[in-house]
Amino acid sequence: MENKKEIVLSGIRPTGFLHLGNYYGALRNWARMQYEYDCYFFIADWHSLTTHADTKDLKTNTRRMVSELVAGGLDPEKCVIYLQSDIPEIAELYLYLNMLAYRGELEKTSTFKDKVRQQPENVNAGLITYPVLQAADILIHRALKVPVGKDQEQHIEMTRNFAERFNHRYGEVFPLPVAFNYGGELVKILNLDGSGKMSKSENQMNTIYLNDDDVLITRKIMKAKTDQGPVAVNSKKPDYIQGLFTLLSLVSKKDTVDKFEEDFNQCRIRYGDMKKQLAEDLVSFIRPLRENAQRLQQNPAHIDGILSDGAGKARKSARATLVKVREAIGF
Ligand code: TRP
Repeated sequence: MENKKEIVLSGIRPTGFLHLGNYYGALRNWARMQYEYDCYFFIADWHSLTTHADTKDLKTNTRRMVSELVAGGLDPEKCVIYLQSDIPEIAELYLYLNMLAYRGELEKTSTFKDKVRQQPENVNAGLITYPVLQAADILIHRALKVPVGKDQEQHIEMTRNFAERFNHRYGEVFPLPVAFNYGGELVKILNLDGSGKMSKSENQMNTIYLNDDDVLITRKIMKAKTDQGPVAVNSKKPDYIQGLFTLLSLVSKKDTVDKFEEDFNQCRIRYGDMKKQLAEDLVSFIRPLRENAQRLQQNPAHIDGILSDGAGKARKSARATLVKVREAIGF
């Protein structure tokens, strides 16, 4: 019987340790989606070559990331977890889609323009066709829903354009995918100094990683930027304070959050106390996750088993799409 669940797909590049922003912005939602959709989650290791020429740590990074994804809630029995590089069908689809992608649109992609600024000495063809490879990732399973953050929405829109052109030129093969998250906005986790979204590459003291130990988490929180406190009741919170409150709302009990909110609004907040509580609750949240991930990493054969299992399932779906694609083109 045909499977009627909609297909969800998302990917992540293996270029660093997972942090709280990845957890709350992506992983937590993926873990929920695996029970409601047919889910494919993968490590975009080919994409990482566009910026990381050095592949010495690729295998370690990949295995660590898979451990963290599983420790963070992905269940290999419930969703398909795989490496992009294990699915050669994606590369073939990428080739076809490249003929439908135009230089002008690729050059004006925001992520591309950012990279040109960041690495002007390495503006390679893989970098400019990054959205085409991403489209191949998505279309290879004829996915409908792609959980991603704001910064990736342009790529999903480009994916729709490539899919539409393919369908128009060769015949209907692809549904048109959309960026998707549960109702409304994703929680936005800020750096501990309030300077924008928590990210892998920023100052490590401003980012909390799922791999940080208890002492380090506590040290980072205690060092987080604060000030003298508000001087007028019901003031608007500066970003760096709002960031701490957001974390508190995610890991602490409601009573605790309400108490500090009230203290803030009444100008009697003691940030030292709040940070102590936040550090304690964050430690309790992260510890089991970190310990599970570390336990998994001690068994690389088990991780490789998850990945080869995932590759088997992903290739089956990918092959079925390629049969349709080749037939439509006329090979
Ligand atoms: N470009 C995405 C990012 O940097 C990663 C990615 C690659 C992806 N292929 C994808 C995400 C396909 C969703 C679907 O976050």
